[in-house]
Amino acid sequence: MNKIVIIGAGGFGREVEMLISQINNKKKKWDLIGFLDDGVAQGTKIGKSKVLGPIQIINNLEDVNFVIAIADTVVKRKVINEINDKIKPAILIHPSVILGERVIVGEGTILCAGNIITEDIYIGSHVILNLMCTVGHDTVIRDLCSFMPSVNVSGEVVIEQGVFMGVGSKIINRVTIGEFSKIGAGAVVSKDLPANCTAVGVPAKPIKFHDRF
Ligand SMILES: CC(C)(COP(=O)(O)OP(=O)(O)OC[C@H]1O[C@@H](n2cnc3c(N)ncnc32)[C@H](O)[C@@H]1OP(=O)(O)O)[C@@H](O)C(=O)NCCC(=O)NCCS
Repeated sequence: MNKIVIIGAGGFGREVEMLISQINNKKKKWDLIGFLDDGVAQGTKIGKSKVLGPIQIINNLEDVNFVIAIADTVVKRKVINEINDKIKPAILIHPSVILGERVIVGEGTILCAGNIITEDIYIGSHVILNLMCTVGHDTVIRDLCSFMPSVNVSGEVVIEQGVFMGVGSKIINRVTIGEFSKIGAGAVVSKDLPANCTAVGVPAKPIKFHDRF
Protein backbone atom coordinates (compact mmCIF):
# COMPACT_ATOMS: atom_id res chain seq x y z
CA MET A 1 0.00 0.00 0.00
CA ASN A 2 1.20 3.51 -0.81
CA LYS A 3 0.63 6.35 1.63
CA ILE A 4 -1.52 9.23 0.38
CA VAL A 5 -2.75 12.58 1.72
CA ILE A 6 -5.66 14.60 0.38
CA ILE A 7 -5.04 18.35 0.19
CA GLY A 8 -8.35 20.10 0.84
CA ALA A 9 -10.72 18.96 3.58
CA GLY A 10 -13.94 20.36 2.09
CA GLY A 11 -16.84 18.55 0.47
CA PHE A 12 -14.83 17.44 -2.54
CA GLY A 13 -12.06 16.23 -0.22
CA ARG A 14 -14.60 13.88 1.38
CA GLU A 15 -15.66 12.69 -2.07
CA VAL A 16 -12.02 11.94 -2.88
CA GLU A 17 -11.82 9.92 0.36
CA MET A 18 -14.79 7.91 -0.95
CA LEU A 19 -13.05 7.52 -4.33
CA ILE A 20 -9.92 6.14 -2.62
CA SER A 21 -11.99 3.69 -0.61
CA GLN A 22 -13.75 2.46 -3.79
CA ILE A 23 -10.40 2.01 -5.56
CA ASN A 24 -9.19 0.02 -2.51
CA ASN A 25 -12.33 -2.16 -2.58
CA LYS A 26 -11.21 -3.42 -6.01
CA LYS A 27 -7.54 -3.77 -5.09
CA LYS A 28 -5.87 -2.43 -1.95
CA LYS A 29 -3.66 0.35 -3.24
CA TRP A 30 -3.77 3.45 -1.02
CA ASP A 31 -3.23 3.98 2.70
CA LEU A 32 -5.00 7.30 3.34
CA ILE A 33 -3.10 8.92 6.19
CA GLY A 34 -5.25 12.08 6.37
CA PHE A 35 -6.09 15.53 5.04
CA LEU A 36 -4.07 18.75 4.85
CA ASP A 37 -5.89 22.08 4.95
CA ASP A 38 -4.87 25.61 5.95
CA GLY A 39 -8.40 26.48 7.08
CA VAL A 40 -9.41 23.47 9.17
CA ALA A 41 -7.98 22.77 12.63
CA GLN A 42 -5.49 19.94 13.08
CA GLY A 43 -7.22 16.82 14.43
CA THR A 44 -10.64 17.64 12.93
CA LYS A 45 -12.32 14.43 11.81
CA ILE A 46 -13.28 14.36 8.12
CA GLY A 47 -15.10 11.18 7.12
CA LYS A 48 -12.97 8.33 8.50
CA SER A 49 -9.74 10.35 8.57
CA LYS A 50 -8.32 13.44 10.29
CA VAL A 51 -6.74 16.74 9.35
CA LEU A 52 -3.00 16.35 9.92
CA GLY A 53 -2.25 20.09 9.74
CA PRO A 54 -1.70 22.90 7.23
CA ILE A 55 -0.61 22.17 3.65
CA GLN A 56 3.04 23.14 4.22
CA ILE A 57 3.70 20.15 6.50
CA ILE A 58 3.56 17.93 3.41
CA ASN A 59 7.19 18.86 2.78
CA ASN A 60 8.16 17.12 6.07
CA LEU A 61 6.31 13.87 5.29
CA GLU A 62 8.19 10.88 3.92
CA ASP A 63 7.14 8.42 1.20
CA VAL A 64 3.77 10.01 0.75
CA ASN A 65 1.74 10.74 -2.39
CA PHE A 66 -0.81 13.52 -2.68
CA VAL A 67 -3.81 14.75 -4.62
CA ILE A 68 -5.37 18.20 -4.50
CA ALA A 69 -9.12 18.11 -3.85
CA ILE A 70 -9.66 21.82 -4.56
CA ALA A 71 -11.74 22.89 -7.56
CA ASP A 72 -10.49 26.50 -7.80
CA THR A 73 -7.78 26.28 -10.44
CA VAL A 74 -5.83 29.35 -9.28
CA VAL A 75 -5.70 28.01 -5.69
CA LYS A 76 -4.60 24.61 -7.05
CA ARG A 77 -1.69 26.25 -8.87
CA LYS A 78 -0.64 28.17 -5.74
CA VAL A 79 -0.72 24.96 -3.67
CA ILE A 80 1.42 23.05 -6.19
CA ASN A 81 4.03 25.79 -6.14
CA GLU A 82 4.41 25.27 -2.35
CA ILE A 83 5.05 21.53 -2.61
CA ASN A 84 8.54 20.13 -2.78
CA ASP A 85 9.34 18.16 -5.99
CA LYS A 86 10.23 15.10 -3.88
CA ILE A 87 6.57 14.62 -2.87
CA LYS A 88 4.88 12.66 -5.63
CA PRO A 89 1.36 13.27 -6.96
CA ALA A 90 -0.96 10.26 -7.24
CA ILE A 91 -3.32 9.52 -10.13
CA LEU A 92 -6.79 8.43 -8.92
CA ILE A 93 -9.12 6.74 -11.40
CA HIS A 94 -12.45 5.31 -10.20
CA PRO A 95 -12.96 1.66 -11.29
CA SER A 96 -16.08 2.64 -13.26
CA VAL A 97 -14.23 5.07 -15.56
CA ILE A 98 -14.16 4.05 -19.23
CA LEU A 99 -10.88 4.92 -20.92
CA GLY A 100 -10.40 4.40 -24.67
CA GLU A 101 -7.17 3.82 -26.56
CA ARG A 102 -4.26 6.27 -26.52
CA VAL A 103 -5.47 8.27 -23.54
CA ILE A 104 -2.74 10.01 -21.53
CA VAL A 105 -3.51 10.99 -17.94
CA GLY A 106 -1.07 13.29 -16.12
CA GLU A 107 0.18 13.07 -12.53
CA GLY A 108 -2.08 14.26 -9.74
CA THR A 109 -5.20 13.91 -11.90
CA ILE A 110 -8.47 12.73 -10.36
CA LEU A 111 -11.09 10.94 -12.49
CA CYS A 112 -14.28 10.40 -10.44
CA ALA A 113 -16.98 7.78 -10.96
CA GLY A 114 -18.78 7.53 -14.28
CA ASN A 115 -16.40 9.41 -16.56
CA ILE A 116 -16.20 8.26 -20.18
CA ILE A 117 -13.06 9.31 -22.04
CA THR A 118 -12.86 8.00 -25.59
CA GLU A 119 -9.89 7.85 -28.00
CA ASP A 120 -6.66 9.84 -28.50
CA ILE A 121 -7.12 12.18 -25.57
CA TYR A 122 -4.53 14.07 -23.54
CA ILE A 123 -5.37 15.02 -19.96
CA GLY A 124 -2.66 17.00 -18.17
CA SER A 125 -1.54 17.08 -14.54
CA HIS A 126 -3.67 17.97 -11.50
CA VAL A 127 -6.87 17.91 -13.54
CA ILE A 128 -10.17 17.07 -11.83
CA LEU A 129 -12.99 15.43 -13.77
CA ASN A 130 -15.82 15.25 -11.24
CA LEU A 131 -18.69 12.73 -11.61
CA MET A 132 -20.11 11.64 -15.00
CA CYS A 133 -18.19 13.77 -17.48
CA THR A 134 -17.69 12.71 -21.11
CA VAL A 135 -14.67 13.66 -23.22
CA GLY A 136 -14.66 13.06 -26.98
CA HIS A 137 -11.90 12.00 -29.39
CA ASP A 138 -8.72 14.05 -30.03
CA THR A 139 -9.36 16.45 -27.16
CA VAL A 140 -6.64 18.13 -25.11
CA ILE A 141 -7.27 19.14 -21.49
CA ARG A 142 -4.22 20.90 -20.11
CA ASP A 143 -2.86 21.02 -16.53
CA LEU A 144 -4.92 22.26 -13.57
CA CYS A 145 -8.34 22.21 -15.26
CA SER A 146 -11.35 21.42 -13.05
CA PHE A 147 -14.57 19.98 -14.44
CA MET A 148 -17.64 19.91 -12.20
CA PRO A 149 -20.13 17.02 -12.58
CA SER A 150 -21.77 16.20 -15.94
CA VAL A 151 -19.59 18.25 -18.28
CA ASN A 152 -19.71 17.08 -21.91
CA VAL A 153 -16.83 17.79 -24.26
CA SER A 154 -17.15 16.94 -27.98
CA GLY A 155 -14.23 15.93 -30.22
CA GLU A 156 -11.10 17.93 -31.13
CA VAL A 157 -11.53 20.47 -28.35
CA VAL A 158 -8.58 22.26 -26.72
CA ILE A 159 -9.01 23.37 -23.11
CA GLU A 160 -6.00 25.37 -22.01
CA GLN A 161 -4.54 25.16 -18.51
CA GLY A 162 -6.54 26.16 -15.46
CA VAL A 163 -9.99 26.27 -17.10
CA PHE A 164 -12.95 25.74 -14.72
CA MET A 165 -16.01 24.08 -16.29
CA GLY A 166 -19.23 24.55 -14.27
CA VAL A 167 -21.69 21.74 -13.63
CA GLY A 168 -23.56 20.56 -16.73
CA SER A 169 -21.64 22.74 -19.19
CA LYS A 170 -20.97 21.54 -22.74
CA ILE A 171 -18.42 22.27 -25.46
CA ILE A 172 -19.13 21.62 -29.14
CA ASN A 173 -16.43 20.14 -31.38
CA ARG A 174 -13.26 21.97 -32.53
CA VAL A 175 -13.43 24.80 -30.01
CA THR A 176 -10.59 26.22 -27.88
CA ILE A 177 -11.01 27.75 -24.41
CA GLY A 178 -8.23 30.10 -23.23
CA GLU A 179 -6.34 29.52 -19.99
CA PHE A 180 -7.86 30.16 -16.57
CA SER A 181 -11.30 30.98 -17.99
CA LYS A 182 -14.41 29.99 -16.02
CA ILE A 183 -17.43 28.53 -17.78
CA GLY A 184 -20.73 28.85 -15.94
CA ALA A 185 -23.05 26.03 -14.95
CA GLY A 186 -25.19 24.92 -17.89
CA ALA A 187 -23.30 26.94 -20.52
CA VAL A 188 -22.83 25.74 -24.08
CA VAL A 189 -19.48 26.78 -25.56
CA SER A 190 -20.00 27.03 -29.31
CA LYS A 191 -17.07 29.29 -30.30
CA ASP A 192 -13.50 29.84 -29.11
CA LEU A 193 -13.31 31.72 -25.81
CA PRO A 194 -10.40 33.96 -24.72
CA ALA A 195 -8.21 33.45 -21.65
CA ASN A 196 -9.14 34.78 -18.19
CA CYS A 197 -12.82 35.35 -18.81
CA THR A 198 -16.01 34.17 -17.13
CA ALA A 199 -18.46 33.02 -19.80
CA VAL A 200 -22.08 31.97 -19.22
CA GLY A 201 -25.20 31.08 -21.15
CA VAL A 202 -26.26 29.37 -24.36
CA PRO A 203 -24.26 30.14 -26.41
CA ALA A 204 -21.59 31.01 -23.83
CA LYS A 205 -20.47 34.63 -23.91
CA PRO A 206 -17.86 36.37 -21.71
CA ILE A 207 -19.48 38.50 -19.00
CA LYS A 208 -16.24 39.53 -17.29
CA PHE A 209 -12.47 39.32 -17.50
CA HIS A 210 -10.24 38.79 -14.50
CA ASP A 211 -6.63 39.12 -13.64
CA ARG A 212 -6.32 36.39 -11.04
CA PHE A 213 -2.53 36.06 -10.84
C1 LIG B 1 -20.27 31.45 -13.82
C2 LIG B 1 -19.89 31.57 -12.37
C3 LIG B 1 -18.46 31.00 -12.17
C4 LIG B 1 -19.90 33.08 -12.07
O1 LIG B 1 -19.67 33.34 -10.75
P1 LIG B 1 -19.40 34.86 -10.30
O2 LIG B 1 -18.15 35.37 -10.98
O3 LIG B 1 -19.41 34.90 -8.80
O4 LIG B 1 -20.59 35.68 -10.95
P2 LIG B 1 -21.94 36.23 -10.29
O5 LIG B 1 -22.56 35.23 -9.40
O6 LIG B 1 -21.60 37.59 -9.74
O7 LIG B 1 -22.89 36.42 -11.57
C5 LIG B 1 -22.71 37.43 -12.55
C6 LIG B 1 -23.92 37.43 -13.46
O8 LIG B 1 -23.95 36.22 -14.22
C7 LIG B 1 -25.16 35.47 -13.99
N1 LIG B 1 -24.78 34.06 -13.92
C8 LIG B 1 -23.98 33.46 -13.01
N2 LIG B 1 -23.82 32.16 -13.29
C9 LIG B 1 -24.56 31.92 -14.40
C10 LIG B 1 -24.79 30.76 -15.15
N3 LIG B 1 -24.22 29.60 -14.82
N4 LIG B 1 -25.59 30.86 -16.24
C11 LIG B 1 -26.17 32.05 -16.58
N5 LIG B 1 -25.97 33.21 -15.89
C12 LIG B 1 -25.18 33.13 -14.81
C13 LIG B 1 -25.66 35.99 -12.64
O9 LIG B 1 -27.04 35.80 -12.52
C14 LIG B 1 -25.26 37.45 -12.71
O10 LIG B 1 -26.19 38.12 -13.53
P3 LIG B 1 -26.63 39.65 -13.24
O11 LIG B 1 -25.34 40.46 -13.40
O12 LIG B 1 -27.63 39.92 -14.31
O13 LIG B 1 -27.14 39.66 -11.86
C15 LIG B 1 -20.86 30.80 -11.41
O14 LIG B 1 -22.11 31.43 -11.34
C16 LIG B 1 -21.08 29.36 -11.86
O15 LIG B 1 -21.88 29.02 -12.73
N6 LIG B 1 -20.32 28.46 -11.20
C17 LIG B 1 -20.40 27.04 -11.41
C18 LIG B 1 -20.65 26.36 -10.08
C19 LIG B 1 -20.59 24.87 -10.16
O16 LIG B 1 -20.47 24.27 -11.20
N7 LIG B 1 -20.62 24.23 -9.01
C20 LIG B 1 -20.50 22.79 -8.94
C21 LIG B 1 -20.09 22.36 -7.58
S1 LIG B 1 -19.90 20.61 -7.52
